[in-house]
Amino acid sequence: MVKNQESWKEKILALKEEKGALILSHNYQLPEIQDVADFVGDSLELSLEAQKTDRDLIVFCGVYFMAEVARILSGKRVLMPVLTAGCPLANMATREAVLRMKEEHPKAAVVTYINSSAEVKAVSDVICTSANALKIVEKVPQEEIIFVPDQGLGGWVKEHTNKIVHLWPGFCPTHYRIMAEDIMKARSAHPEAKVLVHPECRPEVRRLADQVLGTGGMLRFVRSDSASSYIIGTEEGLLYRLRKENPQKQFFLASPLLLCPNMKKTDAAALYECLRNETGEIEVPEEIASQARRSLLLMLELT
Ligand code: 13P
Repeated sequence: MVKNQESWKEKILALKEEKGALILSHNYQLPEIQDVADFVGDSLELSLEAQKTDRDLIVFCGVYFMAEVARILSGKRVLMPVLTAGCPLANMATREAVLRMKEEHPKAAVVTYINSSAEVKAVSDVICTSANALKIVEKVPQEEIIFVPDQGLGGWVKEHTNKIVHLWPGFCPTHYRIMAEDIMKARSAHPEAKVLVHPECRPEVRRLADQVLGTGGMLRFVRSDSASSYIIGTEEGLLYRLRKENPQKQFFLASPLLLCPNMKKTDAAALYECLRNETGEIEVPEEIASQARRSLLLMLELT
């Protein structure tokens, strides 16, 4: 098995060199993908890497909206090994429904989580990620906000700002699988461990945590924190990097159900085939891309 993975690794790295491609991987991807990527990161870090690359070909290992952002910000050719790797949360908001909500609250700024389609980004004022949501909400001039599409992250922002926040009823099915009882059970099994949960979690779960952080925030926090064990409330793929970077610390998953099926669709074989045949190209119509780019660039400016 390990030998097999090593041979995939060599084949992918050789092909990547030959094609001059940049491989980007989200923190939730399989270890075999993280190990061959040029860069592994959270949604904000990956957007910045795509924007600044001088390579002409990006292979994006993550879910669809992330590859779409890479295409919009880089203007480069972006390929995705498995185009059906989507995000159910992103599918919970449509352009038409956002426009209707805007009509109901004409003074509000539409702050949209990056887990959304390019069409929805195109009718938004500004985008945010789990790493900068509160900062973005505080920095837009409007005192009233429509937060699309995640009620988890939006609810957390609402608890931390004095602005009026109208929440969209979307949620991440993976993060919503963690229940308050899971955190209580994990705490009693590991009383010394700190609890870190993603802001996409349910409010009652967030309230039981020591820290509410995105994936990049969790990695940074653990690196500089003195505790020796942690209960992690996010998709299980993050444990690979946490353990690799902190071999002396212990990590426990808050629930065995924390698995995003879309994030696991891309394996080494799919990545190799994508690179070899240059398949799975991301296309965004220019009129949508240019409007979505405006709201993404405003996020980068405000961050
Ligand atoms: P991060 O930006 O925190 O990595 O979150 C990505 C995501 O899609 C969480 O479900």
